[in-house]
Amino acid sequence: MQDKVFQLIDQECQRQQHKIGLIPSENNSSPKVSQVLGSCLSNKYSEGYPGRRYYEGNQIIDQLEALAIARIKKLFQVPHVNVQPYSGSPANSAIYFALLEPGDTLMGLALASGGHLTHGHPKVTFSGRYFHSVQYGLNRQARVDFQALRALAKKYQPQVIVAGNTAYPFQLDFARFREIADEVGAWLVADISHITGLVVAGEHPSPFTTADVVMSTTHKTFRGPRGAMILVTKQGLKRDADLAKKIDKAVFPGLQGGPHNATTAAIAVAAQEAGTKRFKKYARQIRQNAQALATALQNQDLKLVGNGTETHLMLIDLTPFGTSLGPQVAYALDVAGIYANYNTIPNEPGSPFYPSGLRIGTPLVTTRGMKEPEMKQIAAWIAQVITVVKDQPLPQNNSQRQQFLKDFKNQITKNQVLKEINQQVKELTKDFPLFKW
Ligand SMILES: Cc1ncc(COP(=O)(O)O)c(C=O)c1O
Repeated sequence: MQDKVFQLIDQECQRQQHKIGLIPSENNSSPKVSQVLGSCLSNKYSEGYPGRRYYEGNQIIDQLEALAIARIKKLFQVPHVNVQPYSGSPANSAIYFALLEPGDTLMGLALASGGHLTHGHPKVTFSGRYFHSVQYGLNRQARVDFQALRALAKKYQPQVIVAGNTAYPFQLDFARFREIADEVGAWLVADISHITGLVVAGEHPSPFTTADVVMSTTHKTFRGPRGAMILVTKQGLKRDADLAKKIDKAVFPGLQGGPHNATTAAIAVAAQEAGTKRFKKYARQIRQNAQALATALQNQDLKLVGNGTETHLMLIDLTPFGTSLGPQVAYALDVAGIYANYNTIPNEPGSPFYPSGLRIGTPLVTTRGMKEPEMKQIAAWIAQVITVVKDQPLPQNNSQRQQFLKDFKNQITKNQVLKEINQQVKELTKDFPLFKW
């Protein structure tokens, strides 16, 4: 009998195939990337760096890591890259480990304004507990409030300013971040995890001529394996000739042991794919699809945070229908065959557990070949789903909420409208296979 693990993998593949994924941080890497990830490379230990390993038998691994480094350096025109971080969060930790002493000041975009946990979210995270974290936010137009950021930077004199985004739909103005970082003598770290694919294709301003250090996960718009890379720019090296060494030492032996060699090789494959005209076309389409989706949602009378998007993602503001409707909408969408994630919105009237927004994006559907007509259809389905759940607000009383959501989930799976949408989604996704490309 087949091992249950493989049965479950089969089920997950079916789920991915028959549903529409709108989580902006997810993508579908190429069959070549998947092949490399399942290869013999993960059998090998290779602590250290090419030519300087603590284990024997790394003749081939050295060549693979050197190849990944060379391809990334060429793609982004940077003098130094480390491709060993296990993922985005450890990569950010490594950057802080290299640039900060415990208790130094770190400034990042607040989680509730679209930043990432690792950008200094207080109390519960490494970045918020071991450093003095000062968080900046957004202005009334839901854009980074540079005036307030400058005032905070002058007051707190941070050693590091992070320009990065997880749930922020607009372009990051790296030049303005640079100005402020220079005024207070801070390092500028750009975390472009979400937008790397757009940066490669010129669909988003590049941080490589402004930031000192750039971090990116490799599995989002870059469409590679789950992993991350830290890139050191010319400016960074100009400020500190030892910066590359400091970053490498922070990754290994500072925070990690042996690199995941299959991931390293898959990054090399993804880098080659990202350098093609086809990838540029893909990245352009991500943005066009995001524009089309945003317009179609607005035509359905739905409100978007900041009234739109300049990237691959947008936030639907559900407050016109009530506070804390995010979880209900996300559950109902999943029943209808569309998965997204509920999220806080700027000035959230609910809470991080029961927020009032829905975060959606187009990298994955674009990989599947969907275009503007499908975005219009998806927007219509989202609007229909919201209509189904909008009259079922979360109880005010905290103690009743868990039971309410349990009952809601039970009842919503039986909803006829959602079942019908689910059937239509299944029909549509047949024309857009996961590994079409
Ligand atoms: C901007 C940003 N930085 C860092 C991370 C952390 O990456 P990982 O989940 O791979 O640790 C994420 C993940 O969502 C992110 O969006």
